[in-house]
Amino acid sequence: MTVEITVDGEPVAGTDGQTVAAVLLASGRLSWRTTRSGAPRGVFCGIGACFDCLLTVNGVPDVRACLRRAADGDEIRTQSRADA
Ligand code: FES
Repeated sequence: MTVEITVDGEPVAGTDGQTVAAVLLASGRLSWRTTRSGAPRGVFCGIGACFDCLLTVNGVPDVRACLRRAADGDEIRTQSRADA
């Protein structure tokens, strides 16, 4: 079964059960957040310990992409330090 999410308005398909991070990585995205200095961040630990993978899901900021399972219709927005 597939899920379809949007990432900054762009449709991205994933497989049911994947985390948001897994869907993003499988789509070729290696980073989806920037630090105050503009440095890119994506998955670092992959287990919910480092906060590198933060993004906004359905309007809720600072969701850890490596812990949140993707759900059909999720609206994902990437974040910059200014947003957080
Ligand atoms: S990659 Fe470290 S918390 Fe998600």
